[in-house]
Amino acid sequence: MGLLLSGCTDVGELTPPVYKTKLPAEEIRNSAFKEEFPLQYNTYLRNDETQVMTEYNGSVNYNKHNNVDPLPEGYKHAQPYLKNLWLGYPFSYEYRSARGHTYAVEDFLKIDRINRYDEKGGLPNTCWNCKGPKMLEWVKAQGEDFWAKDVNTMRDQLDIKDHTIGCANCHAPDTMELRLYSVPLQDYLKSQGKDFAQLPRNEKRALVCGQCHVEYYFLDKSFGPAKKPKFPWDNGFNPGDMFTYYQNQGECQVKGFEGNFVDWTHPVSKTPMLKAQHPEYENWVNGTHGAAGVVCADCHMAYVRTDDKKKISSHWWTSPLKDPEMRACRQCHSDKTPEFLKERVLFTQKKTFDQLLIAQDVSVKAHEAVRLALEYTGEKAPNYEDLIIQAQQMIRKGQFFWDYVSAENSVGFHNPAKALDTLASSQQYSQKAVDLAGEATRFGISKNLAGDIKQIVPPILKHSRKLQQDPEHMKTHQWFKYLPVLPAANQVWDVQKRL
Ligand code: HEC
Ligand code: HEC
Ligand code: HEC
Ligand code: HEC
Repeated sequence: MGLLLSGCTDVGELTPPVYKTKLPAEEIRNSAFKEEFPLQYNTYLRNDETQVMTEYNGSVNYNKHNNVDPLPEGYKHAQPYLKNLWLGYPFSYEYRSARGHTYAVEDFLKIDRINRYDEKGGLPNTCWNCKGPKMLEWVKAQGEDFWAKDVNTMRDQLDIKDHTIGCANCHAPDTMELRLYSVPLQDYLKSQGKDFAQLPRNEKRALVCGQCHVEYYFLDKSFGPAKKPKFPWDNGFNPGDMFTYYQNQGECQVKGFEGNFVDWTHPVSKTPMLKAQHPEYENWVNGTHGAAGVVCADCHMAYVRTDDKKKISSHWWTSPLKDPEMRACRQCHSDKTPEFLKERVLFTQKKTFDQLLIAQDVSVKAHEAVRLALEYTGEKAPNYEDLIIQAQQMIRKGQFFWDYVSAENSVGFHNPAKALDTLASSQQYSQKAVDLAGEATRFGISKNLAGDIKQIVPPILKHSRKLQQDPEHMKTHQWFKYLPVLPAANQVWDVQKRL
């Protein structure tokens, strides 16, 4: 093992140490790294801490839509309309706040999005991509056939802790140099004519996170190996760039959406939808810090001194606000107090979150407006059909823009201006959908939409695969009538155990 260089004070000035470990290059077990790297490993174990919250974030994996119950099931800053907005898509069954990397496999196997009531999970193996280093072995052994196979085929083929997100996802075990395990990121870099190994160190320190903390989608089969993950970055990293990209990357045949990539069709407004997933990298990249070259690791892996005064990178990936001293930030903002810095973060987050809630209200109103217009029996505009399609296009766009911020985990901090611009755009697109649906019915539906949307379409507090099997539950919300009641079934899988 090499020596750690210490003594430099500025972030980014330290030269990364070079190691020659005793580990084989194919090692993927986290525990195998413990002996040679006890310092980093000890900080890594702190990812198991799952109690502490910050104002908008933290490590309790509460239900993100539940603003009614206390922790650990709900939280004051939850988003009550999530189940409505994702109705008909597995995300409407269960969606929880993120916690530490050491829980990634366990939380994945417990989530109700994967069908545990059937041998088939209903999702492809691609979902495993961001859960740990087993991907290296699986893709090597199965090649491009791996992706489209059912997710449950691998359920019991790994160890929950030893194979969760860990060392081999970011390091070459024999040298500990930063490296990528992720196929979609490697594909993207190749398409840009870039080679990870040749990139500046600081870019590497961001891209290792960009393997997973990004928006992605699964290829439709006429675009390459079915269900292979891809990043929608050809036009750029902004929500409009991605939205345009998705317009001609799929097999949709619905009128007005021909050739679109589609995640699912919302059953209430019959709209072919997109679901965004945690675009941390894309938000950060042109934000204040991203533009200034301040990377993920600077704030989420700040140097810590160990007992014998060695300086190491913390491998406890969590909110920098948990540290009362805000040390990660004060490496650079040394002239500011911790209180000041925390206040500045909260200032951005409150403004972002307030607009996020408004954006999702308008989005729900847009689905309801198109539902009303589709069922309208009164006199319609001569170009009714066109107007409905245009309204649905605006629903798709408004909700994708909302989700770009909603799914991003910093509540605006990674890019305050872009977050607010994206939410303003979302509100405008969704309102446009409401207006177009009104016009289609010569405003005959408008009186049904006057007033508080929370009264007109209440938030869905409870829904799950089990509940969707219960005809009584399916009478508890007016939107459930657009979903099929599922056949009664018993649970087949409990985490890794076949019942
Ligand atoms: C999500 C990516 C990621 C994972 C997972 C990860 N590391 Fe790191 N590691 C980094 C980054 C980024 C650095 C900083 C490299 C630099 O500054 O050039 C780093 C640095 C290191 C270093 C160099 C010394 C130091 O502290 O900066 C060692 C040793 C190390 N990691 C060990 C480990 C071990 C052991 C594990 C598994 C328990 C692990 N890492 C898991 C991203 C990761
Ligand atoms: C292999 C995929 C992967 C990589 C690489 C990765 N992450 Fe994560 N990250 C996840 C997943 C999945 C979760 C959620 C785990 C859960 O909730 O069980 C997560 C959660 C987090 C959290 C939330 C922790 C909490 O306490 O709530 C932070 C912060 C985070 N990651 C930062 C980073 C940073 C910074 C990097 C790069 C150094 C990185 N991640 C690299 C997949 C990844
Ligand atoms: C300038 C510092 C900074 C940089 C750079 C930065 N973050 Fe963050 N990040 C934060 C702050 C502050 C929060 C909000 C924490 C909170 O609300 O408790 C946050 C939140 C997060 C969260 C949610 C944490 C939680 O508790 O659930 C994740 C995940 C995350 N960042 C990942 C990343 C990734 C990936 C990158 C790089 C692409 C990155 N961050 C770059 C400061 C930073
Ligand atoms: C590696 C250095 C570095 C780190 C670490 C860092 N910052 Fe910054 N920060 C900057 C730079 C550079 C700017 C751009 C403005 C400037 O040049 O002063 C900036 C700007 C800001 C701004 C004003 C712009 C805005 O986006 O609102 C705030 C607030 C801020 N940082 C808070 C934080 C917080 C909170 C953390 C820790 C979570 C943090 N910074 C970590 C370097 C850093």
